[in-house]
Amino acid sequence: MQDVCRDITLKDGRRARVRTVTINDIPARQAFLLAIAHEHVYTLMSPAEMQDACVRMPRKLSEALQRTDALYLIALPLRPDGSESGQVIADFTIKAHDYERMGHCAMLGVEIAPEYRGVGLGDAMMHIAMDWALAHPQLRRIELWVYAANAPAIALYRKHGFDIEGTRRRAMQWKPGEWHDDHLMARLLK
Ligand SMILES: CC(C)(COP(=O)(O)OP(=O)(O)OC[C@H]1O[C@@H](n2cnc3c(N)ncnc32)[C@H](O)[C@@H]1OP(=O)(O)O)[C@@H](O)C(=O)NCCC(=O)NCCS
Repeated sequence: MQDVCRDITLKDGRRARVRTVTINDIPARQAFLLAIAHEHVYTLMSPAEMQDACVRMPRKLSEALQRTDALYLIALPLRPDGSESGQVIADFTIKAHDYERMGHCAMLGVEIAPEYRGVGLGDAMMHIAMDWALAHPQLRRIELWVYAANAPAIALYRKHGFDIEGTRRRAMQWKPGEWHDDHLMARLLK
C-alpha cells in the first residue's frame, strides 16, 4: 500500500494528520470503528458485527497492507507541537474488488468522528484518496453504497463527482418494519 502522509488545518483551526494506517494503529482504529458502530449512524454493520470485524482486523489489515490496489487512511489530531495524538478521528478506505473482471473497480468507505464532522476533514480525505485513485493505473471506477437519507454523505460524494446510479428499496432493516433505502453511487475516473 502506498505511504501517504498529509497534515491539514480544519475549518475551525484544529490540525490533523491524514496518513496510511499501520499495524500499530489497530487498537485505536478498532476503538474508533466500534464507537461509530455504537452511534447508530448510517453504517452497514451492527455493533456486534463490528466487534467481530475488529477481532479479524489484524489479519485483514496485514493482507490489505500488501495490496497496491487499496488505500486505507486514518486521521489523527495534531498537538500544538506537531506530534500525533494516538486517537483516531477518521477512517477512509478504498479497495479494489477481488474478482478479476471487477479489478478496475474499487469500493469506498468513510467515517468521521462526530466532534470532527462539518469542518472539512471528509472533504480533505476525499481529495487525497481521489488523487491516489486517479493516478492508479488499474482503477477506472469508484463506487459505494449510501443510505438514501444520509444527506451529508450524499452531498460529499456529489461534490467529488459521484452520481447516483440506482436505489435499492428497503435494502436495510434496522429493526422489524424499519427499512431504509440506499443508493449506489459511483464516479468514473478516466
Ligand atoms: C458524511 C461524512 C463522511 C462527511 O464528512 P465531513 O468531514 O463531516 O464533511 P466535510 O466537513 O468535509 O464537508 C464536505 C462536504 O460534505 C457535505 N456536507 C458535510 N456535512 C454536511 C451536512 N451536515 N449537510 C449537508 N452537506 C454536508 C458538503 O457538501 C460539504 O462541502 P462544503 O463544505 O463545501 O459544503 C461525515 O458526516 C460522517 O462520517 N458521517 C457519519 C458516517 C457516515 O455517514 N459515513 C458515510 C457512510 S456512506
